[in-house]
Amino acid sequence: MGTGRASRTNVRILRNRAETRCLGAAIARELRDGDLVLLAGDLGAGKTFLAAAIGRALGVRAALTSPTFALVHEYAARGGRTLVHADLYRVRGGGLGDEVARLGLRDRRVEGAIVLVEWGEEAIDALGGAPAFLVGLSIRADDARVASLSGLRAPMLSSDRP
Ligand SMILES: Nc1ncnc2c1ncn2[C@@H]1O[C@H](COP(=O)(O)OP(=O)(O)OP(=O)(O)O)[C@@H](O)[C@H]1O
Ligand SMILES: [Mg+2]
Repeated sequence: MGTGRASRTNVRILRNRAETRCLGAAIARELRDGDLVLLAGDLGAGKTFLAAAIGRALGVRAALTSPTFALVHEYAARGGRTLVHADLYRVRGGGLGDEVARLGLRDRRVEGAIVLVEWGEEAIDALGGAPAFLVGLSIRADDARVASLSGLRAPMLSSDRP
């Protein structure tokens, strides 16, 4: 299924929630303290579901729910690590960068938290840049999800490197 070593975007079909959980676990294995993960895609594409899968694989015991209203939720993960999950949908558009600065997401990375962000693609610089993973999700007609992976650590998940 891979398109070769030179390919920079790694595309995967997620036929069901279990396959999304597997991808979440694979992403979690590659994450380092201070990493940024951007989750992109339409409403209902599965960003929060994937964030929950990553959280579970990092040892978050609490149920990870959508931070739609609070904008940011923070969780304790295994090994004393911290997971921050943000949903910037309500503050997207003009002023997004200022809002990201106000929320302190870049600072949380500097402090070592792993930061997952929905609707953050327009604020990469304000989020501290260099995402470890940018996951674009879309819904296929048969309800499967298509995940396009890019970012610093995406090559680690290429099908050439099982
Ligand atoms: N293969 C799949 N992977 C992930 N979610 C799936 C899959 N198939 C069905 N779903 C369902 O799709 C829904 C995705 O909802 P989710 O809240 O994760 O979307 P979202 O992208 O975060 O939306 P929003 O932009 O509103 O925050 C969930 O109810 C989930 O159960
Ligand atoms: Mg969501």
